Amino acid sequence: MPGSSLSSRTVLVTGASTGVGVETARRLAGRGATVLMHGRTAEEARAAADMLVATKGVDAERLCTYGADFARLDEIEFLAHKVMAEHPDLNVLVNNAAMAAPERHTVTDDGNEIALQVNFLAPYLLTCLLAPALAGGPGGRVVDVSSSPHGTAPIQWADPHRARRYSRLAAHARSRLTLTVFAADPRVTAVSVHPGASPAQGARHVVRLCDPAVEIVDGAHHDRDARDDLDDLGSLSSLSSLSSLSSLSSLSSLSERVALARVTTENRTTGRPTGLGTQGDVLDRDTGRRTT
Ligand SMILES: NC(=O)c1ccc[n+]([C@@H]2O[C@H](COP(=O)([O-])OP(=O)(O)OC[C@H]3O[C@@H](n4cnc5c(N)ncnc54)[C@H](OP(=O)(O)O)[C@@H]3O)[C@@H](O)[C@H]2O)c1
Repeated sequence: MPGSSLSSRTVLVTGASTGVGVETARRLAGRGATVLMHGRTAEEARAAADMLVATKGVDAERLCTYGADFARLDEIEFLAHKVMAEHPDLNVLVNNAAMAAPERHTVTDDGNEIALQVNFLAPYLLTCLLAPALAGGPGGRVVDVSSSPHGTAPIQWADPHRARRYSRLAAHARSRLTLTVFAADPRVTAVSVHPGASPAQGARHVVRLCDPAVEIVDGAHHDRDARDDLDDLGSLSSLSSLSSLSSLSSLSSLSERVALARVTTENRTTGRPTGLGTQGDVLDRDTGRRTT
């Protein structure tokens, strides 16, 4: 298998029971990494790991499995504590697990719109809880598997759970936008990537971004559909650092544990500032307030 050895790396891949996640786990293990495969349940994760060993020739010693339902934030906390206890040497987190937003507005037991929680708040909380390990050694990083529709819907700060006006496409896009922007959080080095339509191609690029030999631009977003060749990382569009973090009081169940990133971004390719307010707003980079 091409690429340098990742034998000293420990990587947690969420949503590794199928699709991009399981293929990412296969490729990482094939390059010698220790792979922590997460599934919605421990049984699903174990079944995926068993499949890799039985049919793809993956060394069972390279794989560990974990279960956590991202629709339950207490399970995220349990997962993080278990991973920190069993693998304090964790180097890389691949935030890959995600769901399509449901047809009808759905709220979790934690009080959050379900796509916002599963696709953003849960990986946000997981990253915050794992940050001490991820930021503790050289080459530690987070790869956020996002999606190109992240650019199609603004965050509605006045109604973050879309309780008043729900559309599944907008809910999905918004959940992907928040994850993409989160790659600019200063706590850990992170990039986001739109993997493209094929799990194999997506996994190839995710694994590449996991490799410490590959230099990454902190906060960059890699769009697989926009460009086929990721070698020239410097010319890719990227999201610059954020201006401020503030907790969003309406996310009451989470507000004491995490702060939702309220940021402004800048597209380095065009130099055009992009505000994440309601449609048409441009937010000041330093204050986070509207400038228009
Ligand atoms: N494939 C594409 O065309 C495409 C395009 C753009 C972006 N992406 C992004 O790439 C990533 C992977 O996509 P994919 O196509 O490989 O998706 P997928 O095959 O549907 O896999 C998603 C993974 O997330 C897990 N998951 C979903 N809801 C969960 C929950 N509540 N708790 C825990 N785990 C949960 C799934 O577990 P279950 O099997 O139990 O549901 C599965 O392991 C996603 O972030 C997606 O947004 C994919």
